[in-house]
Amino acid sequence: MPRVSAAFFLFGALCVLVGMFWGMHMGESNDFQMMPAHAHLNLVGWVTMSLYGTFYALTAQTMSNRLAWTNFALSALGVLTMVPSLAALLATNNSAVLPSLIAGEALTVLGLLTFLISVWREFFRKRA
Ligand code: HEM
Repeated sequence: MPRVSAAFFLFGALCVLVGMFWGMHMGESNDFQMMPAHAHLNLVGWVTMSLYGTFYALTAQTMSNRLAWTNFALSALGVLTMVPSLAALLATNNSAVLPSLIAGEALTVLGLLTFLISVWREFFRKRA
C-alpha cells in the first residue's frame, strides 16, 4: 500500500475514533445538538477519506503521487476546518463562524476535485 493510502486511513481512523466517542457522549447526555457535526466527522472524515485511500491503493502503479498527496492535504485540512466550525456554529449560532466554515467546505470540495482529476487520469490512461 502506498504511504498516501496509509495516511488517508490513519487520518480516517482517528476521525472515527473521535466521532464514536462524540456519538457516545451525545447518547449518554441525551443532547443531540452536535449531531450534524458528528455525522460530518464520520462521513467526510472516515468514510470519504477511506474511499480516497482505497482508490490510491488500487491504483498504486499508475497514480500521480503528487496529486494524491494534494488530495490528502486539502481533504484533511477541510475536515479539520469544517467540523470544528460546524460544531461552533451549532453551539453558538454566531455568524462570525461562517467564514471558517465556508473555508472548510471549500477545502473539502477542492479535495474532491483533486480526487476527480485522479479518477479521470486513471479512466483515460492508455492500456496495453
Ligand atoms: C460508537 C459509534 C457511534 C455512536 C455511539 C453514534 C451515536 C450517534 C447518535 C446518538 C446519533 C443521534 C441519533 C438521533 O438523534 O437520531 C447519531 C447520528 C448520526 N450518526 Fe452516529 N454514532 C456512532 C458512529 C457513527 C459512524 C461510524 C457514522 C458514519 C460512518 C455515523 C453517522 C451518523 C449520522 C449520519 C447521523 C445522523 C443520522 C440522522 O440524521 O438521523 N455515526 N450517531
